Formats: sequence, C-alpha cells, structure tokens
Amino acid sequence: MEQKKIIVALDGHSSCGKSTYAKRIAVELGYSYIDSGAMYRAVTLAAMDAGLFGGTGEPLPGRIEELLDRIELQLRFNPELRRTEIFLNGRMVEDLIRSMEVSSHVSYIAAISPVRKKMVEYQRKLGEEKGIVMDGRDIGTVVFPDAELKIFLTASLEVRAERRYKELIEKGMPASLDEVRANLAKRDHIDSTRADSPLKQASDAIVLDNSDMTVEQQMEWFRKIYEKITAG
Ligand code: DC
Repeated sequence: MEQKKIIVALDGHSSCGKSTYAKRIAVELGYSYIDSGAMYRAVTLAAMDAGLFGGTGEPLPGRIEELLDRIELQLRFNPELRRTEIFLNGRMVEDLIRSMEVSSHVSYIAAISPVRKKMVEYQRKLGEEKGIVMDGRDIGTVVFPDAELKIFLTASLEVRAERRYKELIEKGMPASLDEVRANLAKRDHIDSTRADSPLKQASDAIVLDNSDMTVEQQMEWFRKIYEKITAG
C-alpha cells in the first residue's frame, strides 16, 4: 500500500541548515521541497530594485502594497541543476537573492503584514496536494498549523555564522565572519520579535539542535521520527 502523503514543516533560526536538511528529506520521501524564505528574499530584491529602501536600511512606508500588486513569483524545477529556482516576474533570481545585501534587508520586508499575507496564500496553494517539505519561520505555526510533522531546527550562533560564511565564500560572494554573525543575530532578533507571525516553536514541534550533528546523523534522527508519525 502506498504511504499516505504528509506535510513536513521545518522551522528554525537563520542559517541552521534548514534548506540542506529539507532538501534531503524531500529526496528521501520523493516529495517537493519548498523554500519559503526565497519568496521573502525575492520580494526584497524587487523592493531594492524599485528603490523602496530609505537611508536607514528600512523600507519606506506605504509603497509595498503597490509593489506587491506588480509582483509575480513562480517556482520551477531546473532538471539540469536539479534544483528549484525562483522567478520574479519571469526572471530567474535564485542566485541574486542569496547576496548579503538581500540578507541584510529581508527581515524588514518579512515583517510587513501584506507581504506575509500574499506569501502565505501562495505557500498554502503549494501544499494543497501534500507531499511537500517546506522550510521557513512560521510554517508549523501559521502556514500549516495542521502539518503532520513539525520540526524546529536550531544551532548555536557561532556554528551558524561559520556555516553561512563558508557557504558565501564557496559561492565567491565577498563576506567577513563578523559581518555574517552580526547579520544573523540581527535577523534572529527581528524575526523573533515582529508582531506578525514571529519565529517561534510550534507547541507540537519536535526540536532538533544540530550544532554537533552531521546531515547523515540528522537523517537517522528523521527516519525514526517519520516512522513513528506514519505508523499511526
Ligand atoms: O530562510 P531564509 O534565511 O532564506 O529567510 C529569509 C528571511 O525571510 C528571514 O530573515 C526570515 C524571513 N522568513 C519569514 O519571515 N518567514 C518564512 N516562512 C521564511 C522566511
């Protein structure tokens, strides 16, 4: 008998390896992987291109709604690179949205309610058929409060900063470890204290601190949890 499809909601702090983990889980289960952070990043890129940020680094009030009406996001799987790519009004922006500049502006955009409303609608549509692994900050609390499996992933700030720094350097993106650490701490703060859908652990989420774990160890942990959940 075919296994019933579920939704796996993976939330947690910035750069704790959510996307690597979510992708591995999706491959293992034959599910789609959806990176909800990429959507907020793409809106941020659009806001930057439209000159919506003032000198303080925060978006100018009032203009985001009008921008949202002009934004169309699409996720498409690239079979050659074997990855899902995000398109902003038809333009592939998967790499552009990972820059430090977008990272340092995105939490402000993600705190704006009309932005969240539009993103959550899109995310729920993607989950209608189940069989997805979605990572983010509010997936288990707001987007899919009924998800069958909720994981809250975390790791120490130092471990996360080092991982993120290494990733940026490997991609040839200029960065300093201090700058990366400060950006993460600031994003954690804004994401956890915003009024709309703050980052928090769902009461029925299972917490995993992966500071000292390899991806393989995390997969072993996942298999046990998944078995328990799907057994009844
Ligand atoms: O996962 P990420 O670092 O790519 O996310 C980018 C930003 O978007 C992050 O600072 C918080 C925000 N975000 C959010 O508020 N809700 C989500 N479901 C996903 C991301």
